[in-house]
Amino acid sequence: MLNIVLFGPPGSGKGTQATNIITKYNLVHLSTGDMLRAEIAAQTKLGLEAKALMDKGDLVPDEVVIGMIGNKLANTKDVKGFIFDGFPRTVAQAIALDDLLDKYNAPIKTVLSLKVSEEELTRRILERGKTSGRNDDQNGEIVRNRVIEYKNKTAPLATYYSRQAKLSEVPGELTVEEVFETLEANIEAVRVTLRSDIDLLRTYITPISELEELLIFAFNQHLQFNIKKNENPFGSKVKLLVDKLRKDIWVFAETPYVDKTYRDTYYNFFSTKQRKISRDCIKISFFSEEIKIDDFNSLDKIQSIYLGFIVIRPTLPNIFGRNVINPNAYEKTNFSIASTSISTTVNSVKVNAVGFPHLSQDLEAIRCAEVCLLNVMEYFGNKYPEYQPVLPSTVHKLLRKISTERQLPSLGLDVPSISFVLRKLGFGTKVYHRNSLDDKTGDFRKLLYTYIESGIPVIAALSNNQNGKQGVNHAVCVIGKKSKPNSVKVEFKNFGKNVEIADYYDNFIDKLVMNDDNFSPYLDFEFENPTALHGQQNPLWENCKVISFIVPLYKKIYMDAYVARQYADSIIQNDTLFMDRSQKSLIHKTFLTSSRSYKCYISTSQTINPQLKTLILSSPMPKFIFLTEIYDTDSVKEGKITGAIIFDATESKGSPLRPIILAFHNNRLIKRLNSFDSLKKFDIICTPFISHNNLSYYENVQSSK
Ligand code: AP5
Ligand code: MG
Repeated sequence: MLNIVLFGPPGSGKGTQATNIITKYNLVHLSTGDMLRAEIAAQTKLGLEAKALMDKGDLVPDEVVIGMIGNKLANTKDVKGFIFDGFPRTVAQAIALDDLLDKYNAPIKTVLSLKVSEEELTRRILERGKTSGRNDDQNGEIVRNRVIEYKNKTAPLATYYSRQAKLSEVPGELTVEEVFETLEANIEAVRVTLRSDIDLLRTYITPISELEELLIFAFNQHLQFNIKKNENPFGSKVKLLVDKLRKDIWVFAETPYVDKTYRDTYYNFFSTKQRKISRDCIKISFFSEEIKIDDFNSLDKIQSIYLGFIVIRPTLPNIFGRNVINPNAYEKTNFSIASTSISTTVNSVKVNAVGFPHLSQDLEAIRCAEVCLLNVMEYFGNKYPEYQPVLPSTVHKLLRKISTERQLPSLGLDVPSISFVLRKLGFGTKVYHRNSLDDKTGDFRKLLYTYIESGIPVIAALSNNQNGKQGVNHAVCVIGKKSKPNSVKVEFKNFGKNVEIADYYDNFIDKLVMNDDNFSPYLDFEFENPTALHGQQNPLWENCKVISFIVPLYKKIYMDAYVARQYADSIIQNDTLFMDRSQKSLIHKTFLTSSRSYKCYISTSQTINPQLKTLILSSPMPKFIFLTEIYDTDSVKEGKITGAIIFDATESKGSPLRPIILAFHNNRLIKRLNSFDSLKKFDIICTPFISHNNLSYYENVQSSK
């Protein structure tokens, strides 16, 4: 059905235009003003009561007009649609109309608002008053009162409808024909032919503060729920998400939304249950400022204010489906993470969501481990052509090969299973266990930091299941870090010959950042207390440790971070030929990087000396390299390095010198002229230059309006 509301102040031309529209589109005209005047003419009780109010220019009570419209709708069958003229006039009437129309599955398609100045309104009405016989057209004071009633009670409806993305404003001071042309164009835009109105896509716009209310409404309207506001089952979940977001964000909601991940679990699991569960979701998109429906005409505008999306699943209480939220949407951010750009749509417009993917478990088909796998694959699949995002059923199918038990409902996965799936999906997975490394040296922690600094998201297994006591096991994606201020006092280890050495990872990393499916994205945590937040809510979660972590490494990286760090240590400590011993304090940081990103960074670096730049860029390198950057106590404060060692990450063992492709430190450089050749020493002039970085830094300390 084509239901249209004509909206505007008295005398704006609603009645005039309604006549034209019903002729063209064969619709039924419902004017509450006309209906009331008919009641007056028939001298009914209702008419007599209404007359007193209408003559003054006041509105008649909501119940009266709602009752009239309700009767009219119930008694008018088989029509193409209605034109509502002069109704609704208050928010209560608008809500009642939406409810009435919902019964017939025939929502309002568009609300056309006629804009006319007050002078022109008054002129028109007094002119008409000469012949209309309407008491309310007779003098300026009554007209003024009608306009005041309009401003106070009716104008706020514009916001009600613009949040449903249904309002269009139409200039009303042109000729009757010209105004009609514009109205016609607006009607044509919404007069889409669909199988039935139930399939219509609905969109809503609200400030973030009203997200919860919008979700209750959308769950009830579109996902067949019956949630009462006071027994709202997801208040705390929404709070969890919204609390950390900026308060000035606006949301755009689309429903029904087909989400690939949820549809997959729906058809493989939920659809076969006796209980009816919707197969549709709601998609919420975030914007940094108020969004208007017209903004969708400009791709650039939409992208510039777009802050990511979240899919809301009908899987109560864990309703957060796939999401990629830009860290800039958060009120207080100050961290570096691995992030990527994921193409998606909002209101059919293609946009890029930037951030790290996140998802919550539904407690049945996917648990925390599957969540980690899906997020990691979503990240790699969007970033590199070698990989592809996966669906939960793919993960379960892969596991059938090694599992002796069924996969659904999921009980979670152990570390070998997670590693197995990643291997099957194309990675050369590497797993590190805390208990097989010396805890005193901090090697386990530093290996984790090495991969994080490399920009590789890792899946960490957390557990407090020690000493045979039954505790919790959990999996999270560790994706980034918070840095300590550069003013920290560096703790050096003395190393003979008046040289002191410090590991960057012992001094400059504050907390790590993870995506944990129990919380909103980008949660920071202490390495030694990763479940501090869970622990506050549930003592069962206290004292968890990171016990293992799984690194999705590129297949042809044969050197691992442990070996690379050992080689780096050995060269920094022992090599007197290459290492410039006039630098007494050395800080070093080792991480993995692709040679492409490293060379790209070197070639665009403004701070590196040109001769060194040429030497690095002309060196053949494999796809991945381990990079050990060297700082001194001053340069580290500015993020500048005094030297670096570049290791070929396809080497796996041998002497620390063998995998070196090139290394420089202050004014010394070693390099192979060809791959068979031994390392040759060169003199260069190298002043400190800015270090390489694989993580994206996000900072937002201002609080919003
Ligand atoms: P109602 O009958 O709805 O009157 P209104 O909204 O105040 O407005 P009008 O009908 O006077 O103007 P219009 O916008 O339809 O313009 P028109 O085409 O006539 O309501 C009357 C009363 O009933 C209310 O005050 C209230 O008491 C009560 N009531 C009704 N509904 C209610 C509700 N839902 N809730 C509570 N109370 C309710 O045009 C006006 C004049 O301008 C005409 O002479 C026309 O020829 C001329 N004109 C039109 N277009 C142009 C143009 N483009 N250029 C030049 N002249 C033009
Ligand atoms: Mg009218």
